[in-house]
Amino acid sequence: MAEPVRVCITGAAGQIGYSLVYMVGSGAVFGPDTPVILHLLDIAPMMSVLNGVCMEISDCALPCVRDLIPTDNPEVAFKDIDAAFLVGAMPRKEGMERKDLLAANVKIFKVQGEALDKFAKKSVKVLVVGNPANTNALICAKYAPSIPRENFSAMTRLDQNRAQAQIAQRLGIPVTDVKNIIIWGNHSSTQFPDVRHASATVNGQKVSVYDAIKDDSYLKGDFITTVQKRGGAVIAARRLSSAMSAAKAACDHMKSIWQGTSEGQYVSMGVFSDGSYNTPEGVMFSFPVTIKDKKWSIVMGLPIDDFAQGKLDATAKELCEERDDAIAACQN
Ligand code: NAI
Repeated sequence: MAEPVRVCITGAAGQIGYSLVYMVGSGAVFGPDTPVILHLLDIAPMMSVLNGVCMEISDCALPCVRDLIPTDNPEVAFKDIDAAFLVGAMPRKEGMERKDLLAANVKIFKVQGEALDKFAKKSVKVLVVGNPANTNALICAKYAPSIPRENFSAMTRLDQNRAQAQIAQRLGIPVTDVKNIIIWGNHSSTQFPDVRHASATVNGQKVSVYDAIKDDSYLKGDFITTVQKRGGAVIAARRLSSAMSAAKAACDHMKSIWQGTSEGQYVSMGVFSDGSYNTPEGVMFSFPVTIKDKKWSIVMGLPIDDFAQGKLDATAKELCEERDDAIAACQN
């Protein structure tokens, strides 16, 4: 067996945590032959719940799980870790403005950035799931200056998976036969799910999604809004926010980092913009990326038409506003 990978999951006593701890423990991310030591962080009032999660993980008798470390102490949670899923965040409370929620959450990610800086391995890969994911990731990286900022990313994989599932259902094909849908920008309602560069295998033939669907008004209209509003639709139906699908997407994201993307495949994730595609440098923008040796590269040279450019500009504007609010909140 390989050396154990130390993996931290924050918010481990929460909804997403409940699915995610199991999925990571079952070998879905780091491989079935790689043992994992799970560092599980939550806040002090949740320790009894977290202990219950640990009891269940023990009872799953998962061959990959070498050890479980439940804690409310960030030093213990981040000590020598190789990978982090930062899920824990404050949920929106009644009457809370978006700005107040952002301020509360970015402060959590400031503190966790400082703790990662002190205690984690410098090679740690940090995936931020807790919302506002892109801006939290930016703040976390800013306060962990000794860790390369390329090691931080924000999750838009759930949006990618949702988009892929919508197209597969529309075409009546398996989800694996839809490739290279892109999520651009923020994990919010301004995100741009883009099928212009995507392909589908229909009746054994690889065709562009545009040619397969042949419905421009759907692809530029309902398709985009369905993906943008899917989180709200799940809440309306389940009376709880997406959790199983969010955990699966977090696993897909980290697996892509750990194991790389396959030839010709790209995936979307929020990473630091270098100004590619006329996006504002320094915000955490979701781009199509390929990954090799745990390093991502933005897929370059995709043509962007006026419709797409308008969408990219709108989500970029929101990310700049969030960044400015977040930096101000961290200085208070
Ligand atoms: P939840 O409320 O069920 O669980 C959150 C957990 O985080 C709780 O156990 C809470 O005690 C813990 N927590 C709060 N502050 C913490 C801190 N400072 N350190 C460690 N743990 C802390 O929420 P759920 O449903 O698990 O969602 C978690 C986050 O993920 C939310 O911010 C949600 O908006 C976000 N999310 C992001 C998605 C994405 O696609 N990027 C998709 C779905 C959810």
